[in-house]
Amino acid sequence: MPLPSVPRTRTTVLAPRLAALLRDHLGQDVFRLEPDTVGVAGPDVADRILAARRATETERPTFKPLHGRSISRAEASSVTRTIGHDVRAALAGPLPEDVDLSGSWPLTGHLFLRDLVLGGDPYRLRMLMSRNLELTPKLTWSVIAVGAALPGWPRPGGHLTGLAGRAARAVGYQDRRYAMGVYRRAAAPVCFTVSTLVANALWLGFPFEKDMPNRHIIHESLRLLPPSWNILRNASPEYPAVDGRIGEGDDVLVLPLLSHRDPALWDDAESFRPERWESLDPDTAPGYLPFGHSSERCWGRHMVLPLAELLLDLVRRSGLVVDPDRRTAKVPLLGLLGVEDVPLTRPR
Ligand code: HEM
Repeated sequence: MPLPSVPRTRTTVLAPRLAALLRDHLGQDVFRLEPDTVGVAGPDVADRILAARRATETERPTFKPLHGRSISRAEASSVTRTIGHDVRAALAGPLPEDVDLSGSWPLTGHLFLRDLVLGGDPYRLRMLMSRNLELTPKLTWSVIAVGAALPGWPRPGGHLTGLAGRAARAVGYQDRRYAMGVYRRAAAPVCFTVSTLVANALWLGFPFEKDMPNRHIIHESLRLLPPSWNILRNASPEYPAVDGRIGEGDDVLVLPLLSHRDPALWDDAESFRPERWESLDPDTAPGYLPFGHSSERCWGRHMVLPLAELLLDLVRRSGLVVDPDRRTAKVPLLGLLGVEDVPLTRPR
């Protein structure tokens, strides 16, 4: 189902299942999706579901167990701090000169971020940021298995990022495999997700008004195309008490995709209007959950926002434009919600 987006000449084509969700459930608060799954999009119910208990380790998006090995909260926190430090170091350093951001997005933005943040890391770690590995987790594990077994494991020190330094301290095949998995888990949302978010913003809103702050553009892009478009909570005794339509055996899928477009919550909900964020607070706007719920909001958002702002800024200053001949873009049904191919070109 094509959805209109601004500028009006561009059409965003959502994957059929995403389009069906919007068509069938927009404006509903609690609804059955499958015999054992209930969808939730009403802001009050979503709020109570997400506050009812903490996410379990298998529900946590970034630090789920790796090949059956749990990642403790302490380790997750330490890894997040490490990559946060690497991101700040990259942002503080000189930016690469004459960087060419033309080409297909999000791929181009992804490669830029990979080189900016992880550029000095050994190839066997950096290659974990190949977009081809997104296609199948099996392929990722094969690459990890080979990488952990090859001689010449990186040594701590030198020009490694903090994240690679952690991996370098791993000893033995099993620990090296695990370390590579953690490296990928932490670096992927920085490179894959941030470039997806910026590609979405370019598609939805380019050209932007000259004085429009990047932060507003990013919040608005996260509203219409939230990369994390659903938040899963497995069946739990707390949930039927929150709403009688949720059964004891029902998993719950909280759907920012829907609450972010609910006309009862947003003026002109389908339009890309970054100026709305002049008077809205992204931390408290009802139903706005691009980084999850306030009780355990994304730990990475403080690095995501400056990186996305930097990328947008570079594009806005580059003179590049979204190819005016590109009229439609597909949003496939993948883990991350994002437009597939946004071509940035020199103006003709
Ligand atoms: C645009 C980029 C990102 C988006 C849209 C995003 C989105 C989210 C969302 C929606 C949640 C809540 C999930 C839930 O409640 O089940 C979450 C949690 C979390 N995110 Fe992010 N995230 C991003 C980047 C990052 C980065 C760069 C990191 C760190 C490397 C990170 C680490 C986490 C952690 C640690 C949690 C807490 C849940 C957990 O314990 O795993 N995120 N994120």
